[in-house]
Amino acid sequence: MLLVAAVLLFSRAASAEVAADDEGYYCYGDGHLHTSQPCRFFAIVIDAGSTGTRLQLYRFVHSTLPRGLPFHAEEETFHEVKPGLSSFFDQPELAAASVEELLKTASRVVPEKLRGRTPIVMKATAGLRLLPGDAAHRILEKVNASVRASGFVCMENCVGILDGNEEGVFSWFTLNLLLVRFYHDSAGNEVDPSPGRSAAAFDLGGGSTQVTFWPQSDAIFDAHPDFRHDIDFFQTHMHLYTHSYLGAGLQSARLGILQGEEREVEGVLELESPCFPPDFQLPKWEQALKEWSVRGTADYSLQACQKTIRDFVRRSNIGQLTDLRGSSHLYFFSYFYDRARQAGLVKDGEAAKPVKVVEWRDAAEKACSTPSFDVDAPHWLPWQCLDFTYIHALLKDGYGLDDHQEIIPVNSIKGMGVSWALGMAYSLVDEFHRELALEDIDDGDQRSSVNATGVELVDSFLTVISQKTTDVLQFFNLVS
Ligand SMILES: *[C@@H]1O[C@H](CO)[C@@H](O)[C@H](O)[C@H]1NC(C)=O
Ligand SMILES: *[C@@H]1O[C@H](CO)[C@@H](O)[C@H](O)[C@H]1NC(C)=O
Repeated sequence: MLLVAAVLLFSRAASAEVAADDEGYYCYGDGHLHTSQPCRFFAIVIDAGSTGTRLQLYRFVHSTLPRGLPFHAEEETFHEVKPGLSSFFDQPELAAASVEELLKTASRVVPEKLRGRTPIVMKATAGLRLLPGDAAHRILEKVNASVRASGFVCMENCVGILDGNEEGVFSWFTLNLLLVRFYHDSAGNEVDPSPGRSAAAFDLGGGSTQVTFWPQSDAIFDAHPDFRHDIDFFQTHMHLYTHSYLGAGLQSARLGILQGEEREVEGVLELESPCFPPDFQLPKWEQALKEWSVRGTADYSLQACQKTIRDFVRRSNIGQLTDLRGSSHLYFFSYFYDRARQAGLVKDGEAAKPVKVVEWRDAAEKACSTPSFDVDAPHWLPWQCLDFTYIHALLKDGYGLDDHQEIIPVNSIKGMGVSWALGMAYSLVDEFHRELALEDIDDGDQRSSVNATGVELVDSFLTVISQKTTDVLQFFNLVS
């Protein structure tokens, strides 16, 4: 029924214009699919993270392969503005202005005639989830108005907060899609999805950190039954292990690690840490809507820093991942990649290659023996001792990975960023098509008037996408 209505709508929408245009954006003209050239369309995801807001705009093309997804992303436009929306907690209109800058970029990329057919979402993650009171609500209200005025298609709940588990599952989906782990091997041969072929996704954000993978056995769920997330995808049942640790993102972990012994001196909250040199002082550090001053201590060393950090990791109750020990498919992105680059473990533009967990410890040891910092040193440099030590402790003491375990820092694959946004964009395209179908039923009261033409349309539609759309529908129904 949904497919019938969707096809009616496509044909109606397209018949008002030329069939497939020169750029190949349309395929549904005069009631039939035009398969002589690929059909292209767009979807827009705005990721409002704790440290920045990012436009991730995808151009999709229909796929006519017999197995696999009915469409795939062929190009991504990326644009980031800083700081994140949560920094505008008392000026929601400035939050909206920062999103409007991204909407302008999107309007330059998407041809005007396609704007009314391009779905958009703006989802905020941990940064807004952590804001107190109704600050998040007031920001979202303003941003909501801007996104809805953009001319792109903003469906119900297109502006909101993304749940930590959705973040994990969509990132895992993006990663495995880009690595081609689901239904074809690198030579293009058909393969069945399996836990052994799938890659584990580790995401380190500013406010939270996520892990998602498809375990070989169910035993891991004994200790964490609530981390289980079942999905059906391409006739395969998958039970994913996914969890988002709120407060264990890099920025919130910094504060969690430093806090505990703070003193208030003349209205300023003072923090001390052995992860900074004794003469070090950071007079003004803004975090969690407060201003702090941070200073080093006399026992500055890797060992002393490790001790406070291990306490924090223990308090965070990170679930051990014994299932993943020895795996060669562990991928690390967001801050994991960013810090690996700063530590010199990976180089910009280089193909993804594994590093060992212990290399984080070595990088931390080097960082924690820097005796002092120039006043004009980049803001992240004095934090390296703490950041690298935290990442090592998170992997080793938190997730329980061995020092010799190989992990793969990754930022992008085939020109597409590894993040939850692409997985979300697939879901968005799918939801958009279903929504259109429902609207069509409501508006035109087509429910009882699907005639022979309609059936023909369904046939031609189905020959191209066969069973695939149904599987994707199923998959995303379960995710959201
Ligand atoms: C955005 O606006 C729509 C329509 O006015 C409304 O239904 C929705 O609840 C709003 N969402 C937020 C997060 O403010
Ligand atoms: C079938 O549907 C088309 C498009 O909705 C309409 O133009 C046509 O008149 C219908 N034919 C019959 C026999 O109802």
